[in-house]
Amino acid sequence: MSARGQFSSRIGFVIAAAGSAVGLGNIWGFPTQVASNGGAAFVLVYLVLTFLLAYPILMAELIIGRHAQSNMVDALQKISIDPIPKLIGRLTGYWGLVVVSLILSFYAIVAGWMLAYGLQSVTNMLGMTAASTWLTTASILRDIIFCVIFFVMTILIVSKGVSNGIEKWSTRLMPMLIVLILALIIYVSTLDGAGQGWEVYLVPDFSKITDPNLLISALGQAFFSLSLGVGTMLIYGSYVSKKENIVVLGASVALVDIGIAIMAGMLIIPAMYVALNNGVTIFNEAGDLIAGPQLIFTVIPSLFESMGTIGPFIALVFFLLMAIAAVTSSISMLEVPVAYAVENSEVSRSKASWLIGVGILLISTVIIFNQALLFDLVVAITTQYSQPLIGLMLSIFAGWVWHRHTILEELKDGCPEMESSVFWKIWPSYVRYVCPIILIVMFYTTTFG
Ligand code: TRP
Repeated sequence: MSARGQFSSRIGFVIAAAGSAVGLGNIWGFPTQVASNGGAAFVLVYLVLTFLLAYPILMAELIIGRHAQSNMVDALQKISIDPIPKLIGRLTGYWGLVVVSLILSFYAIVAGWMLAYGLQSVTNMLGMTAASTWLTTASILRDIIFCVIFFVMTILIVSKGVSNGIEKWSTRLMPMLIVLILALIIYVSTLDGAGQGWEVYLVPDFSKITDPNLLISALGQAFFSLSLGVGTMLIYGSYVSKKENIVVLGASVALVDIGIAIMAGMLIIPAMYVALNNGVTIFNEAGDLIAGPQLIFTVIPSLFESMGTIGPFIALVFFLLMAIAAVTSSISMLEVPVAYAVENSEVSRSKASWLIGVGILLISTVIIFNQALLFDLVVAITTQYSQPLIGLMLSIFAGWVWHRHTILEELKDGCPEMESSVFWKIWPSYVRYVCPIILIVMFYTTTFG
């Protein structure tokens, strides 16, 4: 077993963990959910759920990870004393490994599409019509090629390790992401029609938030967006120095994640109304705003086309933004099984990254060949069911299995006055009672409601 990696600084951790959290879920998932669920009303529900439910689970992952100094499989065993919780901990850890690998397998396909569309903006500028058409027409070959490219980037970064790979690339790419998104927001808001989009975004329509499905989608979105329930944040937490105040670090990550999601809304929703203004269809037959893949791969590209000569440049910036967001997230997914392999065998990090990366790429290939059958199924099993259920297990481990005084000792590292803090007054009983109950109720409604 080699020496454990560590983030070189507090800010390095915050950027890497925010890089994991900020991804396609923020830039694509969040704005489209906002658009179809009552604008600012959804934003409010989302904020409340993130702070009440997702942040406490994020803290559970970070604290367990830093204490155990290991991956989720070993960590949940270490904090348990009796054999049965130890066994359950181990199984939960394996479940997380499988789920995160499956999430990566579909995430990489979508990220590959972003690369293809990004390249298409270049072929457009060069007037290469045939290439452009090929890049934007769904085909197994195209999907495989770009998925492979995306995997190679992810594997190369993870193989370099925590501070030299993950942290280095996150600190390079995240500032770029922020600059690109700001530039796009400013540009889009100068175009005709944007004002109407801002209105839809900022004026809450509370009639939509009484729908119970909305709560469930907001919860799923919050868990996905903060990368919870698969051991990603747990392993990142294990690389944080004992000198840091982990409560504050966790809150910073959650705030950046929410901030970028809200910014993405300021980009996508006004952009849709600019598209409407330019004659692009943005509503479906039922009169709702178009969401999902059709929004990103039909509505937004038609908007770029309607912009004239500047269109391909804006398209390039947009898909570059998407690709950056995706890669800082995918590295955090691949890190989970890689860390497990490195900590439990003699294999080197670089070999583990390639072997596991290629293994997951094979799963992606199976999904590409059977997209109609598998894609939505894998998304549902992993994000809708497994993430909240493992989140529930984590809150049970943090609230019931792990000893409270050990938790306090762990938190005091980096914050000696923890015992008198608001966090310590609320969080322990909160993860013990409130989180499990809400999660069980919500899970029950998703499945049987
Ligand atoms: N949070 C990322 C997003 O919003 C995706 C992500 C990264 C993720 N790591 C994860 C999702 C682990 C679930 C589990 O796009």
